[in-house]
Amino acid sequence: MSAELILGIETSCDETAAAVVTGGGDILSSVVSSQSDLHARYGGVVPEIASRRHLELVSPVVRAALEDAHATLDDVRLVGVTQGPGLVGALLVGLSAAKALAWARGLPLVPVDHLRAHVATLYLAPDPLEPPFTCLLASGGHTMLLSVRNHAGFDILGATLDDAAGEAFDKGARLLGLGYPGGAAIDSLAAEGDPDAYSFPIARVPGLDFSFSGLKTALLYTVRGLGEDELEARRTDLAASYQRAIVGALVGRLRAAAAETGDRTIAVVGGVSANSELRTALPEARFVPLALCTDNAAMIASAARFARPLSTPDYLALDAYASV
Ligand SMILES: Nc1ncnc2c1ncn2[C@@H]1O[C@H](COP(=O)(O)OP(=O)(O)OP(=O)(O)O)[C@@H](O)[C@H]1O
Ligand SMILES: [Mg+2]
Repeated sequence: MSAELILGIETSCDETAAAVVTGGGDILSSVVSSQSDLHARYGGVVPEIASRRHLELVSPVVRAALEDAHATLDDVRLVGVTQGPGLVGALLVGLSAAKALAWARGLPLVPVDHLRAHVATLYLAPDPLEPPFTCLLASGGHTMLLSVRNHAGFDILGATLDDAAGEAFDKGARLLGLGYPGGAAIDSLAAEGDPDAYSFPIARVPGLDFSFSGLKTALLYTVRGLGEDELEARRTDLAASYQRAIVGALVGRLRAAAAETGDRTIAVVGGVSANSELRTALPEARFVPLALCTDNAAMIASAARFARPLSTPDYLALDAYASV
């Protein structure tokens, strides 16, 4: 085994993840332990519960990632870990574990920005994308249009003024009685429905920003106006129409952003990039495999390849950050 491996650790929300990636961007292992079952009954992530679960899972998940990669800590040359944005209590578990590992082994450590890491999924083998490109990042916590000029970062061209696209999916799913998280459930239900059955408004905000809160309210009032049986009968049409509105807003703004940057290459990352209608609506765009759309640690290790590592003991005082 070569000694050129990067260990990535991710604990920003409700996934405990670890991965082993080569310096060339090949994924040797990627272990994601989701806690969504634990949080489902609360209809969202409970920060305190997430932190406690990360504590239980982080060591076994790291061990599993090394095992899957047929590697040991002797083969690791760099540790990458999410520093933020996310839930601070959750982030601190991964950050502390990464510091401990790096310090004990005398390894350098790279603190990774979670949003840059979503973009860095595009740099993984076997078909890495080369900047420049215009990118839509649409996840549970963020929705942004990005101008990516190099591997190290991006400029923000536009962002949501209220809810993130993934949040709009999750809130819509909740109104439709589909449980949490609901993006994937809306996606599969929408496939059986008529997207033209309902007309949900897409907020027209100036520039390259987004707004999704009005859409959610429109769905709320529509659902309230239906009886229980009627809701049951129209659920697929509601899901299809609601999804069509979100996808329409994302596609329109991404193409407008690309026209502004002049980039010929466009890409979509983040959990919402798993959406099948969005993938079909943008045949010209680059998407990553489904497993890399939602949170994972391969993206953290990938981003670590393009950032400056800190050596012992410079990283010991690093703190987590909650927002961008
Ligand atoms: N097929 C799908 N269609 C639409 N949305 C989806 C699909 N699959 C997952 N999602 C949504 O993706 C989101 C999760 O994405 P991700 O894991 O990237 O976000 P996060 O880590 O919670 O937020 P952030 O990255 O902003 O911190 C959830 O809101 C989920 O509903
Ligand atoms: Mg994420």
